[in-house]
Amino acid sequence: MTQDTLIVPAGDLGRDGTRWWRDAVIYQVYVRSFADSDGDGVGDLPGVRNRLPYLADLGVDALWLTPFYVSPMADFGYDVADYRDVDPLFGTLADARGLIADAHAHGLRIIVDVVPNHTSDRHAWFRAALAASPGSPERARYIVRDGRGPDGAEPPNDWESVFGGPAWTRLPDGQWYLHLFAPEQPDLNWENPEVHTEFAGILKFWLDLGVDGFRVDVAHGMAKAHGLPDVGHTDQVEMLGTAVLPYFDQDAVHDIHREWRRLLDSYGGERIAVAEAWAPTPERLAAYTRPDELHQAFNFHYLSAPWDAAGLREVIDESLCTAAAVGAPATWVLSNHDVKRHVTRYGGGERGLRRARAAALLTLALPGSAYVYQGEELGLPEVLDLPEEFQQDPQRLRGEGAGRDGCRVPMPWEGEEPPFGFGAGAASWLPIPAAWRDLTVAEQSGDPGSMLTLYQEALRVRSEHPALGDGALRWLAAPRGTLVFVRETHEATGGDGAGRRLACAVNLSGGTVRVPASGPPLLASGPVHTDGDHVELSPDTALWWDVETSGRQGGRLT
Ligand code: NOJ
Repeated sequence: MTQDTLIVPAGDLGRDGTRWWRDAVIYQVYVRSFADSDGDGVGDLPGVRNRLPYLADLGVDALWLTPFYVSPMADFGYDVADYRDVDPLFGTLADARGLIADAHAHGLRIIVDVVPNHTSDRHAWFRAALAASPGSPERARYIVRDGRGPDGAEPPNDWESVFGGPAWTRLPDGQWYLHLFAPEQPDLNWENPEVHTEFAGILKFWLDLGVDGFRVDVAHGMAKAHGLPDVGHTDQVEMLGTAVLPYFDQDAVHDIHREWRRLLDSYGGERIAVAEAWAPTPERLAAYTRPDELHQAFNFHYLSAPWDAAGLREVIDESLCTAAAVGAPATWVLSNHDVKRHVTRYGGGERGLRRARAAALLTLALPGSAYVYQGEELGLPEVLDLPEEFQQDPQRLRGEGAGRDGCRVPMPWEGEEPPFGFGAGAASWLPIPAAWRDLTVAEQSGDPGSMLTLYQEALRVRSEHPALGDGALRWLAAPRGTLVFVRETHEATGGDGAGRRLACAVNLSGGTVRVPASGPPLLASGPVHTDGDHVELSPDTALWWDVETSGRQGGRLT
């Protein structure tokens, strides 16, 4: 048995609408793949609107909608041509208004994506830059430079695109423009005050429409090192998130986030921003959530951790400590539209599913805010065998990685055959595997053993149990390969120890483990056997139980 204790100081608590974001469960809607209302095979805003009762019933607090703005879809909406309008593929501005209003009526907050690092190459600004001459104010909105070498035929520096290949493309007149992603996504020049003014206007536009916050795309990318120095290495994609590069995680980016925080704070209703930031260390990530910056940052260190007790514990401790050091809530993310779904990452098949069930209880018991990627509540795996002709992700097409189509396959809602109620049409933009017949929402609803029921139950307990959400975590003695911790209310951590406590045990050891435990089990991810003051956990199983105690010793947990 290893024993150790960590108490993380709680932030300001509140489940009643104040500081709601400190422990919110935020559901990521990948709009294109959620629900298709008009039968064209692509999800849309009215589709999301129709499914709001499902989301309210699931028990999440807020939705994060991926970009639905006017876009040529070179990167499926992360290439925005008009930030103040909805792409006809996804609906209209009236649909967006209706969705926000209906979501609020269901008690769900709405977070929208904002993409400030780059625009689409079809954005009016980039078109104007193309038409204008070198040195013009139109070009000064982007990062446009002369090339190196004879005739300037070499790119201005050695930066590589995240999607593969050089990060520079040459213009017909010989200058080069920077694109850290696809060539259709030219990087904006955030040293230009006009860019600041434009984005303040975009944020206000959506805030005035009633959104509750923003997910900030590439929040670590807008500031580039002065002079655009070479990196000096190839294979820069390998360095992403592990090193500070001259184009990512530069200190100057924080000035932009401070500016945005002031703007958010000038609105009522606690509007928030969450950073999509890849930073090399938890400390550097936490810097994005200092009190005068953004409210949250996605915790990709947790997402990237393998299914291993020691590794996970280290990430959890580091995440909690670094977030607490800046007074921010930690966030917990297992999957999103850019990474392989965690059922598959954790080994796939029955084992992957078992681990994903246990991971759900672990994640939802940790202090802070949690993100649920659409379909993880159904236990959807990555689709690894998408036919070649359907693969569309620019990342794969430009040669970097296996591609992200496999985690973007549409949601199966009901019925016996694809597209399983995703839309009224015969097909969906990516084909849904026939085997997902057993994973549809309809199939899992009301089934006590389903993943959907586990998420519904976990979210219900999380919203009702006063020890869950924001607050403190205390590790308890645990057999090797097992994580055991207790969550406690302020009262429980204070003087007499009275108050509510919830314990969580996760067995990652590969064998059955016996853990001291008393108090009624609340929720298990798999087979557990209790015998009075101990519980036996099968491999890859997690358990929540209520610690029955009126004082610290009474719990028999330490
Ligand atoms: C992060 C988004 O999540 C991803 O889908 C996109 O390709 C890049 N940012 C570029 O915008």
